[in-house]
Amino acid sequence: MAENKGKYYISTPIYYPSSNLHIGHTYCTVMADAMARFKRLQGYDVMFLTGTDEHGQKIQTLADAKHISPQDYVDEVVAGIKDLWKTMEISYDDFIRTTEERHVKRVQALFMKMYEKGDIYKGEYEGWYCTPCESFWTENQLVDGKCPDCGRPVTKAKEEAYFFKMSKYADKLLENFEKNPQFLQPDTRRNEMMAFINQGLEDLCISRSTFNWGIPVPLDEKHVIYVWLDALSNYITALGWPDEPEKYDKYWPADVHLVGKEIVRFHSIIWPAMLMSADLPLPKQVLGHGWLLLEGGKMSKSKGNVVDPVMLIDRYGIDALKYFLLREYTFGQDGIFTNEVMLKRMNYDLANDLGNLVSRTVSMIEKYNGGYVPELTDSREAVDEELKQVSIGAASKVESNMDKFAFNMALEEIWVVVRRANKYIDETAPWILAKEEATKPRLDNVLHNLAEAIRIVSILIHPFMHTTSDEIRKQMGLWYADVAWEDAFEFEMMQGEQVKKGNAIFPRLDIEKELNELEALNKSECGANTPLELKSEIEYEDFDKIDFRVGTILSAEKHPKADKLLVFQVKMGTETRQVVSGVAEDFKPEECVGKKVVVVANLKPRKLRGLESKGMLLFSDNTVDGKERCEFVTTIADDGNSVT
Ligand code: ME8
Ligand code: MG
Repeated sequence: MAENKGKYYISTPIYYPSSNLHIGHTYCTVMADAMARFKRLQGYDVMFLTGTDEHGQKIQTLADAKHISPQDYVDEVVAGIKDLWKTMEISYDDFIRTTEERHVKRVQALFMKMYEKGDIYKGEYEGWYCTPCESFWTENQLVDGKCPDCGRPVTKAKEEAYFFKMSKYADKLLENFEKNPQFLQPDTRRNEMMAFINQGLEDLCISRSTFNWGIPVPLDEKHVIYVWLDALSNYITALGWPDEPEKYDKYWPADVHLVGKEIVRFHSIIWPAMLMSADLPLPKQVLGHGWLLLEGGKMSKSKGNVVDPVMLIDRYGIDALKYFLLREYTFGQDGIFTNEVMLKRMNYDLANDLGNLVSRTVSMIEKYNGGYVPELTDSREAVDEELKQVSIGAASKVESNMDKFAFNMALEEIWVVVRRANKYIDETAPWILAKEEATKPRLDNVLHNLAEAIRIVSILIHPFMHTTSDEIRKQMGLWYADVAWEDAFEFEMMQGEQVKKGNAIFPRLDIEKELNELEALNKSECGANTPLELKSEIEYEDFDKIDFRVGTILSAEKHPKADKLLVFQVKMGTETRQVVSGVAEDFKPEECVGKKVVVVANLKPRKLRGLESKGMLLFSDNTVDGKERCEFVTTIADDGNSVT
């Protein structure tokens, strides 16, 4: 066993169970999991916390739309989230749900502590609210009238509310940033936050009274506690603060709150101010990671343009997905997710580099030494020493990169060993050494060294891909020994292990074929995660009154008097009609000509800014490259045909 190095407490954000999680959430959780596993392997007593943030207006609205209770709504989504983490073998030590009694009572205790400190007062809130972000904004903070964080529309809020005297802590918060450069990383985030405070910190509205899906304010049941105050508290309520402080005493302050960059402000300003108010120590570090983007925009549950981790795991396995997420992206920066980059990583790094190294070595040991790892002989050469040095030198490089959360560089250092070992095979050409009895000692040495390098790799990859590590160790006959980090610093530990060829640890992928299939899957699943919010039902007879027809657009031009309108001439059968539609921002006139479209043909004619419009064209809303735009509902049928 590794020596006990003390405690290490790492958290992920608690995600909103508004719908199933996507690859972006998975990315954050996979990083936290790798770090937790790495620290455990190094001998730390780790507390890895994740969970779900279940209250607030957004959840209530979604539940209302489905005509079910918010509790039923979140129960179902949370079950799916727990399943996902189980599938991905996420090694969390605790999963906190903010609807749990243990959390509710402790949030109320924290609220009271802040209240008794004199930091909470009642007033009236007047301003703006962004429901997707669950955040309050003043008029001045809005950008083009929209939420400055996510760019979506905000709603006016005017209600009696409790406020937290956050402004009182502005100086202390600034001092914290100045004195502890490590408190918030990367530095760009730190500068943004200091600028935010310097603009003037306002008191924070911390209760809502226009809906009730939340934790009641103690002393005033008309109000529920603002969902961010509720959510941030999870990091200590899960530890039992204040009534069962055993874990709290052991693990708090947290070593790292790992969060996406969009919620750094909540974690490095609001949360510390709350803790200051309650006279509790601050977390040691907040780390803001970047976003995974699709070519053209951020993934978002509400936009429906998400990548589903379950589908990728079904096709490629957990370890391949984890490896890709950790290897491809640079911590703190945004990165673009594309299927092609993912598939190439899986093929080149995993199937080719690592997979080949293991299968070639196992085959050669089977073929040339009866399946047993040979002992070292005196037949040493310079290349052996080089392979040894590269192999035993990797662990400390992995350590220093992990200290910086540079998962990609940590993995790159491991792959330096993998590639060096593959090159060693080419350089030493064991198949030639095997031809003569005289070179058998040299061959033994080569095979031994390869086995050692692979053993070291199996240890180094363990925090990142433990299943693959175990499989490699099984094939190398290392099943008898626990994975111990300190063994990665030693060469010459093996002899006589019986190797056993298994399946390829990563199958080679046909990239073209995979790309096509993923594309097709994505099309069929796009938007499948968003609940439908329908208008009220209509009778069949009402529907049957509408006459849908196929038409061909003969011409399109801008409306002379209205920027948003296009004027179409649409041919249906023998008739050519003029139809005016409000889509000038979505299409250039010339790209519409020739399109076969669906027309509501019997709509009463009306005038739009002076021009007659006879009928209506059908469009579907779509998100392309992160931007909302509409598309024609088209068909290949001849014009004049009815659409039923
Ligand atoms: O904000 N790329 O929950 P949330 C990378 N409940 N990471 C992404 C991502 C993307 N495209 N999309 C989401 C909340 N994430 C609050 C948190 S904590 C006390 C309360 C990750 O469901 C990233 O870590 O919106 C981000 O911060 C988090 O999911 C937001 O999850
Ligand atoms: Mg969010």
